[in-house]
Amino acid sequence: MIIFPKNVTLSGPQVGKPVNRVDGLAKVTGQAKYAAEFAVPDLLYGFVVLSTIARGRIVTMDLTAAKAVPGVVDILTHSHRPRTSWWTLKWKDQDAPPGSPFRPLQDEKILFSDQPIALIVARTSELARHAASLVQVTYEEQPHATDLRTHRSRARPPSSLKFGFSPPPKPRGDADEAYRTSAVQIDAEYSSPVEHHNALEMHASTVVYGDGGALTIYDKTQGVTNSHGYVARVFGLAKKKIRVLSPFVGGAFGSALRPQYQLFLAVAAALTLKRSVRVVLTRQQTFGLGHRPETLQRIALGADAGGRLQAVIHEVVGSTSRFEDYVENVANWSTLLYRCETARQSYDVVPLDIFTPLDMRAPGGALGVFAIETAIDELAHKAGIDPLEIRLRNYADRDGDNDLPFSSKELKACYAQASERFGWSRRSFEPRSMKDGHRRVGWGMATGVWEAMQMPAGAKAVLQRDGRLVVSTATADIGTGTYTVMSQIAADAFGLPLDRVTIELGDSDLPFALVEGGSWTAGSVGTAVMAVCAKLGKTLCKKASELARSPLNGVSERDLEIVDGGVQIKRDPTRRLLLSELAARYEGELEMKAMVLPHMLDQRKFARYTHSAVFAEVHVDEDFGTVRVNRMVTAVAAGRILNPKTARSQILGGMVWGVGMALSEETVTDRHFGRYMNHSLAEYHLPVHADMGDFEVLFVPEEDGIVNPIGVKGLGEIGIVGVAAAISNAVFHATGKRVRDLPITLDKVM
Ligand code: MOS
Repeated sequence: MIIFPKNVTLSGPQVGKPVNRVDGLAKVTGQAKYAAEFAVPDLLYGFVVLSTIARGRIVTMDLTAAKAVPGVVDILTHSHRPRTSWWTLKWKDQDAPPGSPFRPLQDEKILFSDQPIALIVARTSELARHAASLVQVTYEEQPHATDLRTHRSRARPPSSLKFGFSPPPKPRGDADEAYRTSAVQIDAEYSSPVEHHNALEMHASTVVYGDGGALTIYDKTQGVTNSHGYVARVFGLAKKKIRVLSPFVGGAFGSALRPQYQLFLAVAAALTLKRSVRVVLTRQQTFGLGHRPETLQRIALGADAGGRLQAVIHEVVGSTSRFEDYVENVANWSTLLYRCETARQSYDVVPLDIFTPLDMRAPGGALGVFAIETAIDELAHKAGIDPLEIRLRNYADRDGDNDLPFSSKELKACYAQASERFGWSRRSFEPRSMKDGHRRVGWGMATGVWEAMQMPAGAKAVLQRDGRLVVSTATADIGTGTYTVMSQIAADAFGLPLDRVTIELGDSDLPFALVEGGSWTAGSVGTAVMAVCAKLGKTLCKKASELARSPLNGVSERDLEIVDGGVQIKRDPTRRLLLSELAARYEGELEMKAMVLPHMLDQRKFARYTHSAVFAEVHVDEDFGTVRVNRMVTAVAAGRILNPKTARSQILGGMVWGVGMALSEETVTDRHFGRYMNHSLAEYHLPVHADMGDFEVLFVPEEDGIVNPIGVKGLGEIGIVGVAAAISNAVFHATGKRVRDLPITLDKVM
């Protein structure tokens, strides 16, 4: 059944309440199992061998010593692997950009450093790892290119579009001329380095080889349906013979959107050996799975003396691989956030000898907004206008690029509430004018914005004979709180307490859902859960009226409603049948399954976005150049907040990561070898508790009946957007020094 729900309203005691995670106990007691933790009898372990050159081909591979290790069962290479599909389309997954996806063990060609070239399969992972160290490879090396700056002259538009990617709007007016004649001008280049996701859980796949070659796969993934389709197509297997499970994910942030090579290798080994195989990557190896692209962004802003924008030029160059054109929305945000009729934006890619970049928390948004929000701060300083005031003067009440109204936009309220809470009115205008002991103090602010989306999603609701409600869908919970918020929605649909509801997800046998990404899951799957429960509710009312010896027998179902876990007459709540009684007495199925689709025709008439305002205070030690983010206040307008506790955690997580993006995170490439040098948590500097200041999150009330029927915009990504700019602007205010190249490390501040 397909449903386009309208008029479904969320109400009830659970939604909106800061309830604890329903899976919290399972997680902290270790009962929640991750992809590498499922016990499987007679399991073999794979360890991956990676290329040490960035471009060229394998000439010889000597496996003799590795094979001689007792306990090594087999070694997969490009000359020993199962047959795979030749057709590029079969390799495309739900998140594939234009181009040809990487095919592990395809042939002798090396396309990037750390490319998987062999899988050692052994009785234990230690043996496999040891044997991997004994593989001898000789290469014929070719010159490689990994440096975006060196090769920026090769920049060109992406070859084609990707679902979810909006090319920058077409140029409007003569932006260069308008810039030249503007009273106030700034023109600068901003850069961001390669960054890696570094989720806590390593990428892993456990493939259980069952009767008749059926595969049960425990995979670290943001979408079991994505892994499932990929394995079926690439290996030419019947979909029915594959089941992918991923009940828990230890963080992913985009790194598990696409099927990663450990999945391919584990399946390839299982099919070759007809045995169960597990492949777990090391932290170092996970740096080979995709990354936030490196970008160079030129922004030129022209304004009148009052700071009103006359010209916006935003040119972006991003890195991609030689085989796929990775694309994300980087340049579009500048004119979405600020009203300006004369503008020119572009987004070009430079193919390099690297693995394809990959979506990472707020892909495109985190980078583009860093640049525009720093540029606006520069403009404000030059025009002698307060940074918040200049944003209000250029505030976009409509999406000027598409000439659409916003479905809702409480950004002004975000500015007002966060600035009030932060104490922004006490800020001095001049840089270097605030001190705390020997430290310079700086206050900076920025805007955040992210898309609010609804995707098709399937769900099934079952009232079990014991009266429990079980709702299932193939979506994921990547740590965001999906289990919890879906439990709240389902519980309220029938007025049940939370502990009478079970949510099942992360299983490809369940009703279809896309990857958990883009911050769309709460709104999309939430709508599906809500709509399916509402449909089941109608069925339950009908059954209650049909049931013999029921107090509701013969009552028209239109006069019945479900309240507090029971069916009752709308005007006479004393005549009532508990759902648990109905379930116990009813013979047969009490279930409803549906695919729930968005009202795209209605939605297309509106621009749909989540907004935030970020205010940051930094303390800069002038002797050492060290920056500490002392406090931050973020106000978020994201429609309805299903659970203020899990919501706050999402935003806090984004703010913490924003600190990393601003101050420390950077994957450095050795240009001689074309290899990442700091692929470990010792040298890739993630922010830790000791780096945290006092962070506060405010949610601004916002109603939105367009974005999806439950009015939920999603929170997974908005928390990081704008944070790096707020911090960089605060560093400028503290020191008078403008650092445009992320991360703002001490050598750049000194
Ligand atoms: Mo998100 S980067 O869409 O997982």
